[in-house]
Parts: sequence; structure tokens; C-alpha cells
Amino acid sequence: MDLKDFLVEQWMNDHEGRAVFNMTDTCVSPLSFRELSALDTEHLLDSVILDYGEIKGDSRLRKEILSLYKSGTEDNITLMHGCLQANEAVMYALLDRGSRVITFTPGYQQFTEIPQSIGCETVTVRLLEENGWMPDEEALQKAFETHADMLVINNPNNPTGTLFDEGYLEKLIALCQRHGTYILSDEVYQGLSEREVSVSDLYEKGISTSSLSKVYSLAGLRLGWIKADESVIRKISVRRDYSIISTGPLADSLALTALRNKEKLLERSAQIVSENRRVLGEWLAAEKKASVVMPGAGTTAFLKYDAAVSSERLALGLLEKEGVFFVPGSCFGTDKHLRLGLTRDTETMRKGLSILSEYLRRYS
Ligand SMILES: Cc1ncc(COP(=O)(O)O)c(C=O)c1O
Repeated sequence: MDLKDFLVEQWMNDHEGRAVFNMTDTCVSPLSFRELSALDTEHLLDSVILDYGEIKGDSRLRKEILSLYKSGTEDNITLMHGCLQANEAVMYALLDRGSRVITFTPGYQQFTEIPQSIGCETVTVRLLEENGWMPDEEALQKAFETHADMLVINNPNNPTGTLFDEGYLEKLIALCQRHGTYILSDEVYQGLSEREVSVSDLYEKGISTSSLSKVYSLAGLRLGWIKADESVIRKISVRRDYSIISTGPLADSLALTALRNKEKLLERSAQIVSENRRVLGEWLAAEKKASVVMPGAGTTAFLKYDAAVSSERLALGLLEKEGVFFVPGSCFGTDKHLRLGLTRDTETMRKGLSILSEYLRRYS
């Protein structure tokens, strides 16, 4: 099985440690273990037994996860180590050599690389910046002229922040119903907007994946999940028995604590992201060499700049000389862009953007 380098993850691995002003992380300001355990007023952690626990995940936790959706039962949910593994498990369970998979770009590289490594045919439809980072409709219709086994979406999308609202999802579902196409919807950035809708609540072949990494600020728990029809969960469970068995009672209990305090955590994240959006908006009003289609939701935005320098060179120069850390657009196949994470304190955002302005002038 041939897997290409995962460009954005490699960039983070190679460079994030040197960041002084982290302008690009997608996870809202991570919580410490102490902060999370202070929320454990029910003392769930004291009674954890370190066996394998329930294989599909602690049923109390699956019940809390279910409360994030409008439909289903606990049997429609299974746990995984993060949304990344959840996506992989869905693709391995439902795709075969020769399956046809439609994805969007710019987007998360996992959605094309895993299918390609299985031997699938992948068709990529562009999100158009001039169309508010919504899909190229002509290309989308064309992609669906032939049978498709799976459409993979990221809603809201990393890096563009595109939000497919209920109306647009219904349009995609109508296309998928023609061919019996599954929709795998990575919803890891959901939780901060009331306009967000989960595909598994709308479509019987809709599969939602998510985790506690982004808007719950707990990436280190590596706790994610899949919500899907029971037939899909059954297929995934067979494979899971051969790979992870369970996510384990410790992570499950910490996740349960987090979700029993979800209002607090989401309010904290919503405030951080909205303050950063405000700072970004003020900066854009004065900076003529950059533009951003403001994200519909989520924690990321894709900044376009006008300067004679590649995104990789610009990002490396900013990091090495100033400690200002961005992921270059080249990691998403789109040069002259930088991926912004609206996830740190506003002082970091202000300082990083002001240094970026100096660099954009230098390269003009
Ligand atoms: C679209 C998308 N899915 C999944 C992940 C990974 O999520 P997790 O930490 O839950 O595995 C990321 C992280 O950047 C992401 O951007």
C-alpha cells in the first residue's frame, strides 16, 4: 500500500515546535489535564477500572455524543482514536479497489490519499474562492454523471471554513441518492455555529465523524467517533476488533467529563474564535495585500496574499526570523495562500498579522 506524505501534518510535525506566534493551529487553545479534571465534579475518574471497557465505547459517553445529534440511538455510534482514525475506519470498511470517490479541494489530504492507497478512483472538485469557497457546480454535476460510491466532505472545511448549510446538504444528498452514494462527512469543526447540520441526521447513507480535538480543545485525548447506520457500524466494528479493540476507560471517562461540560467548553471556544475573527476583520480593512473569504464556521480561514513569494518561502521566512507560524497554501495544493487558525489569544493574532504585513510589503 503506497501512501504519499501527508503534507499539512508533516509541516506541523516539522515546524510547530518553533512557533512563538502560532497563527495556524486548528485546535482551540488546548486544555490542560488539570483544567479538565477540575470539571470532574462527579468524580468519574476515581472509579475508572483500567480494563478494556465497553468495546464500542462507554455507553454513558455514547449517550452524551448522541445528544449532539437529532436522530439515532447509541447503537449508531462507535468510538475511535480521533476523527482521523474514524475517517480511515469508514473508508476501509466501505471502499474497495475500483470504488469511485468524490472529494473537494482545497481540503484535507486524507480524503484522497486513503482511497487512492486502497486502489479507488478519486475525482476532485474545486472549491472556488471567487464563489465564496463553494464548489464548482459544473464540475460537481459532471462528477456525478457516473456512479460514485462515496462523497467525502469536511463540514465546516479545513482550510477554507466553507459551511454547507442544510439547504446545500440537501442538494448534495439528492445527487447521492441517484447512485446510492455514501456521504462521509468529517464534522470535526462543528460545535460553534447554529447553522451547522450533521449529515447523519439527514440521509440514511450519511456518515458523520467527529472528535474532541478542535472545538473541545482536547486533541491529546485522541477521542473521536462515528455516527452511522447500524449496518455500517457493524462493518466498522469487525475491523476495529482487529485494530484497537476499544478506546479504553480512561479516555472514555475524560471524554464523558468533557461532554457533560460541553456548554462551558463550547462557549470558551466560541469566544476565542469570534475575537480572532474580529481582529482579522480589522486587519483586513487596513491591509490591501491580503484578503480572506470569512469562514462560514469552524476554526480556520484561508488567507490569500498578493506578493512575489511562494507560500512555502513566505511561511519559512516568517517562522525562522520572527517565530510567526503558518501552514503554507502549498500543503493544500493552493499557492499564494496561508492557512489561518483562529484559535489562539488575540495578542498573538494581532502581532502575527502585523509581522505578516511587513513581510508582504518587503516582497512587493
Ligand atoms: C478535517 C480534519 N479531520 C480530522 C482531523 C484530525 O482530527 P483528530 O485530532 O480528531 O484525529 C483534522 C486535524 O487537523 C482535520 O483538519
